[in-house]
Amino acid sequence: MQYNMANRKTSKSRVSSDKYSVLLPTYNERENLPLIVWLLVKYFGESGYDYEIIVIDDRSPDGTLEVAEQLQNIYGADKIILRPREKKLGLGTAYIHGIKHATGNFVIIMDADLSHHPKFIPEFIQKQREGGFDLVSGTRYSGDGGVYGWDLRRKLISRGANFLTQVLLRPGASDLTGSFRLYKKEVLGQLVKKCVSKGYVFQMEMIVRARQLGYSIGEVPITFVDRVYGESKLGGNEIVSFLKGLLTLFATT
Ligand code: GDD
Ligand code: MN
Repeated sequence: MQYNMANRKTSKSRVSSDKYSVLLPTYNERENLPLIVWLLVKYFGESGYDYEIIVIDDRSPDGTLEVAEQLQNIYGADKIILRPREKKLGLGTAYIHGIKHATGNFVIIMDADLSHHPKFIPEFIQKQREGGFDLVSGTRYSGDGGVYGWDLRRKLISRGANFLTQVLLRPGASDLTGSFRLYKKEVLGQLVKKCVSKGYVFQMEMIVRARQLGYSIGEVPITFVDRVYGESKLGGNEIVSFLKGLLTLFATT
């Protein structure tokens, strides 16, 4: 009994020292960045978790970085960390770059265009704590999850990519191409070392590798709302490289 109490105490004090590093890759997100940052500050503030927001801008021509600098002035350099790169180098490597600078013991990866709502983050954190999960993945394809605002073409691409990956690799998670996730930092580090892909296929490879390495995965249903400002960077090239990446994984794992 006493032993239990003591145990509970230590785990509680460890819990309160948790820190969450949010990675926000941006390319032409000038209109979206102030709102996403404001929402993040709001939800983290309300829930009381320690956090930092790392903006990885690839020299966006629309001046996203200048906006990020203003946000840093408003919210403080301990909360908003800027880790820009020289040019557009792709989404996968943007995460890898961001992780290097993360000081939290957990890392949250999400889009900066408001398709991923920060209101789900407390649910991710709760889920992680309940099950001690190595990673928690937001899912559009289970429970109350869903997608809003996409045209049929985009829905088919996403469903198709998920379906193909499910059939070929059977990774046992419902949303493989989604990119709203929470990772234990050391788990993310291990996964990144194993991942070979650089573009959008990165998300899918991460979860497939996570399963292979025996990491535990929790899921939280999320609604993905298509962006209002700016446009998606997912073009035909990204789709071709997704298919290539999927086949490479199928052949090599
Ligand atoms: N730094 C950097 N460099 N950021 C980038 C780059 C890049 O080369 N390409 C895209 N981003 C940023 C965008 O600014 C945005 O914050 C986020 O990455 C997602 O990019 P979008 O262009 O909005 O992606 P999407 O909405 O088409 O695709 C979403 O859904 C896909 C699956 O359904 C993303 O969540 C994808 O990761 C996901 O695979
Ligand atoms: Mn988007």
